[in-house]
Amino acid sequence: MKALVFHGPKMVAVDDAPDPKIEHPRDAILKVTATAICGSDLHIYNGAIPQLKPLILGHEFMGEVVEVGPEVKNLARGDRVVIPFPIACGRCWFCSHALPTHCESSNPDHYGPEGGLLDQKGGALFGYTDLYGPYQGGQAQYVRVPYADYGPRKVPAQLQNEEVLFLSDIIPTAYSGLKWAEVQPGETVAVFGCGPVGLMALKLAKIMGAAKVIGVDMLPYRLEKARLVAGCEIIDGKEHDPVEVIRSMTGGRGADVCIEAVGMEPDRSVIEKISNVLHLQRGSITAVELAFSAVRRGGRVSIMGVYVTKYDNFPLGQWLDKGLRVQSGQATVHNYIDALMEMIVRGDLVASDIITHRLPLAQAPHGYSIFNKKEEDCVKVVLDPWAAT
Ligand SMILES: NC(=O)c1ccc[n+]([C@@H]2O[C@H](COP(=O)([O-])OP(=O)(O)OC[C@H]3O[C@@H](n4cnc5c(N)ncnc54)[C@H](O)[C@@H]3O)[C@@H](O)[C@H]2O)c1
Ligand SMILES: [Zn+2]
Ligand SMILES: [Zn+2]
Repeated sequence: MKALVFHGPKMVAVDDAPDPKIEHPRDAILKVTATAICGSDLHIYNGAIPQLKPLILGHEFMGEVVEVGPEVKNLARGDRVVIPFPIACGRCWFCSHALPTHCESSNPDHYGPEGGLLDQKGGALFGYTDLYGPYQGGQAQYVRVPYADYGPRKVPAQLQNEEVLFLSDIIPTAYSGLKWAEVQPGETVAVFGCGPVGLMALKLAKIMGAAKVIGVDMLPYRLEKARLVAGCEIIDGKEHDPVEVIRSMTGGRGADVCIEAVGMEPDRSVIEKISNVLHLQRGSITAVELAFSAVRRGGRVSIMGVYVTKYDNFPLGQWLDKGLRVQSGQATVHNYIDALMEMIVRGDLVASDIITHRLPLAQAPHGYSIFNKKEEDCVKVVLDPWAAT
């Protein structure tokens, strides 16, 4: 089969790879019919999260079941399904406490209570480095899906692929951040980062009844996209101090909820880059600092962007003084995916309008490059593994 393989930082190629096989009675094999590139893939692509061996990337995908293991009774050949990006067994202590991203079964080689870049990790993710598995990813013609009796969700026939593909990740990720922050009707929600995750958070904050929804980014084309698809207020963080603007919009107090949807790779100064080397840090916490400043006292912050190391000067004192509630983590996709599918069925949530590029899998390296460099007004790339090149 054809698959997008990571060979090293900025080196990805569409290679011939072995077809996946059933390895466990709870596996299924999926023919991938649509897959996307995520901002999280960029952290591997740029070398911020290490991966030494070649690996098929991709954790946002859906497809058609072609084979099931003997213990998978809920799926049959031909079923169209979308797959949550965390790999969870559905049976361990964490899975039975609504914490599927901390599954104790899916990542036996690197699992442990400590956490951190090279320490023990949580549950496994598709196509997300040896530390989170390794499992081959879904930017491929076929993929093996472990615990297929737990993760995959059948897609109603009337829905198109592009309407549901993002239920694998960015929709539940944005929703996890908003639910963890317990957004209430009438509140003000500020979202830092208007990439795919941020755009979904802006849309969903409105659906949850937020009275004022504000998107912050430094790229005018992404802010324009936010205004267009979410009908929100926008702040250009290059032109204005977003903290001051958000305070001025909220009686000087700040937003009730801030969602951080940037991650560890915002625009960085030379000093920050030097500091990274000196302190063994990866990237910068600028976006977290902005969220802590822009949220009101007693407010809630969800950090959905990915960070991997310890960070100097983390604003713990500000957190205490303002009495913030802060949560972060891999999205608990399994907990929310069914309610979100219902939202799409009802027509309350439209997700496909953020797609800017539809490419055959053969052009995935180009997709990575423009998504990473923010070229061609790229917001979201969807790949078709079966389209002619
Ligand atoms: N927690 C999870 O489960 C989960 C799931 C999916 C993605 N993520 C993470 O979410 C983050 C965003 O993902 P994405 O796909 O939207 O990526 P993206 O890179 O397309 O979006 C990030 C956006 O942040 C903007 N930005 C950079 N610096 C900024 C600043 N200082 N202030 C405001 N905006 C700034 C960029 O211009 C860009 O538009 C990534 O770190 C990704 O790894 C986490
Ligand atoms: Zn992702
Ligand atoms: Zn489990």
